[in-house]
Amino acid sequence: MGYECEFKNLDIDLELQLQNKWLANSIPIHSDILDIKEKMPLYHDDKYSNYWNIREILLTEPLNYFRLKEFLYMRYGGDELAKKTLEDMNTLDPSQSYRILNAGSGFGSDMIEQAKILPNAKFCGIEFNKRYADLSAKIIQALGLEDRIKIYNANLAEPNHMKEIQNREGIFDAAYSNLVILHIDNKSIVYHLIFEMLKKGGIFRNEDYIKQNKTDLKFAAEKIGCQNLKTLGEMIKIAEKAGFNKSHYIDLTENWKEFTLQRLSEYSKINQKISKKKEVFFKDAADYFSEYFGCGGVFKHVKE
Ligand SMILES: C[S@@+](CC[C@H](N)C(=O)[O-])C[C@H]1O[C@@H](n2cnc3c(N)ncnc32)[C@H](O)[C@@H]1O
Repeated sequence: MGYECEFKNLDIDLELQLQNKWLANSIPIHSDILDIKEKMPLYHDDKYSNYWNIREILLTEPLNYFRLKEFLYMRYGGDELAKKTLEDMNTLDPSQSYRILNAGSGFGSDMIEQAKILPNAKFCGIEFNKRYADLSAKIIQALGLEDRIKIYNANLAEPNHMKEIQNREGIFDAAYSNLVILHIDNKSIVYHLIFEMLKKGGIFRNEDYIKQNKTDLKFAAEKIGCQNLKTLGEMIKIAEKAGFNKSHYIDLTENWKEFTLQRLSEYSKINQKISKKKEVFFKDAADYFSEYFGCGGVFKHVKE
């Protein structure tokens, strides 16, 4: 690579170089500090591995798109999920100029994939973690998609933040959230605020964890970062109370069990630039579904 930097300065070095090359940042809505209970930080989980990943992807010329995809998709569904999500929300017609909301957008991976499928659509991601929000804005700029994908740095559970975004963006044709609400204590408020931001006829697709009788809630909280998990019935009630008239649920527990075991086995085989923290999280996630009765799936909530 021919690049050297003292290990202790990796964070600062990366931030500076990224900022010099890609000026885009997320749109700031909040200034408060909220403790996010997420257990696998996507970024800075292990300084060394992410430093090199992000460096090799975003600071090379030209942008390393294949490495970017590898880096972005670490979870069940890969980029196929991006298309499946559009299908589930009935927003798969490329001639339409849909406006789509992504609640908890992480690195923006799903919207990037969806922007290719829907050349006329516009996307808005809301992400609380400023590092992810800014990094995703830079990735989006690097891919030339900044006119179609906006990232807000805001809290989904904060009414003032969501109202502010609604004032600026108006309402959306569809909304989705992938493995985010499981981290948020007050799920009702998030459902209510997303309902308000959807047009009539719009679908909110929420891929999420739920609890069943045997789910080990202590393990879920301590190892996975789940907060206040609800049963299937409780989630449907939350949706109804928020105003959604119909809800469907497809269970993915068995798929996640298989996926998390496979992800662990594949990650353990890599012996270069491996993140110990990530490996531990992959093991915890696999154990959660195999031994601690973790479960969950996809909700489709309709605003009729
Ligand atoms: C497991 S990651 C999933 C990211 C992305 N949806 C994906 O599938 O790659 C969970 C994300 O939710 C974000 N998040 C958690 N609580 C949030 C909140 N209250 N408001 C906005 N984002 C939140 C985290 O910062 C993190 O990026």
